[in-house]
Amino acid sequence: MKKRILVTGGAGFIGSNLCERLAQDANNEVFSLDNYFTGSKENHVANVTYIEGLTSDIATLIAFEPHTIYHLGEYSRVEQSFDDIEKVWKFNKDGIFAVLEFARKTGAKIVYAGSSTKFGDGGLGRSQSPYAWTKASNTELVENYGTWFNVPYAIVYFYNVYGKREIQTGKYATLIALFKEKMKQDETLTIVSPGTQKRNFTHVDDIINGLVLVGENGYGDEFGIGSPEAFSIKEIAEMFGAQIEMLPERKGNRMTADVVTSKTEALGWKPTRTIKEYIDEMRANKWA
Ligand SMILES: NC(=O)c1ccc[n+]([C@@H]2O[C@H](COP(=O)([O-])OP(=O)(O)OC[C@H]3O[C@@H](n4cnc5c(N)ncnc54)[C@H](O)[C@@H]3O)[C@@H](O)[C@H]2O)c1
Repeated sequence: MKKRILVTGGAGFIGSNLCERLAQDANNEVFSLDNYFTGSKENHVANVTYIEGLTSDIATLIAFEPHTIYHLGEYSRVEQSFDDIEKVWKFNKDGIFAVLEFARKTGAKIVYAGSSTKFGDGGLGRSQSPYAWTKASNTELVENYGTWFNVPYAIVYFYNVYGKREIQTGKYATLIALFKEKMKQDETLTIVSPGTQKRNFTHVDDIINGLVLVGENGYGDEFGIGSPEAFSIKEIAEMFGAQIEMLPERKGNRMTADVVTSKTEALGWKPTRTIKEYIDEMRANKWA
């Protein structure tokens, strides 16, 4: 019998990389549930069944009992979440309740994609934006479903992910892909002030390695998956080597975040990629 695995957000950046990896294992039958808000059909990979819809409708859309649900399908941008709070609530709060209820009723294990923003600025990060707060409060609800209803769960925390299928243009683009695009167009790199805010940029391949390990063997909270190297945004821009323009400060922008990877490392995870090498590779490929 194949293992049925459901990935919410499987048409997004990290979710599509996860689907691709899971589908390489012939013992898995992989399904994606995505509403195509930031996800795209261009991110579809072979041997995955794609279902379109909101996670809040999971009970009517998913007609089987998954072994594991990787719950990645949420609104996932920090600064933009102030403008998009209605979507944030619908996608993340209505969504988590429906997904947890579905896990409770079907007996599935839930692997929840938390955010390192929770560990930002000594814990203050959890309420710095609508996004951060929904992610942090969702981790508590996941834990509580474990205690209240014995739902098997693991919570992972990603740190600033970059790599294949990262969104590179438009309102929801993320930094490394955005800088790459600007280098290609020979444009100035813009940095939100103060520029000294530090991030642990982590390659998506390392994220997927950790995620699959935790999916198979991890139970409980605090499975951080992040590179140990922290760089300020200014240092990153300098690695790209273009002109820099400073933008005014924005709400929600944490300065630092603690990296909590010891539990993931105990499962055998190790980071294998560095942002510096990745930028050098992109430069060698002329930002193609
Ligand atoms: N990229 C990062 O650096 C990072 C860091 C920490 C946590 N995360 C978390 O990892 C997950 C994946 O992030 P990503 O970077 O791949 O973002 P993404 O925006 O590329 O992917 C999210 C996917 O979920 C879908 N989606 C959103 N809300 C949905 C809903 N209610 N129902 C169905 N589908 C929905 C989107 O269409 C998209 O395909 C998110 O939960 C995010 O909060 C990401």
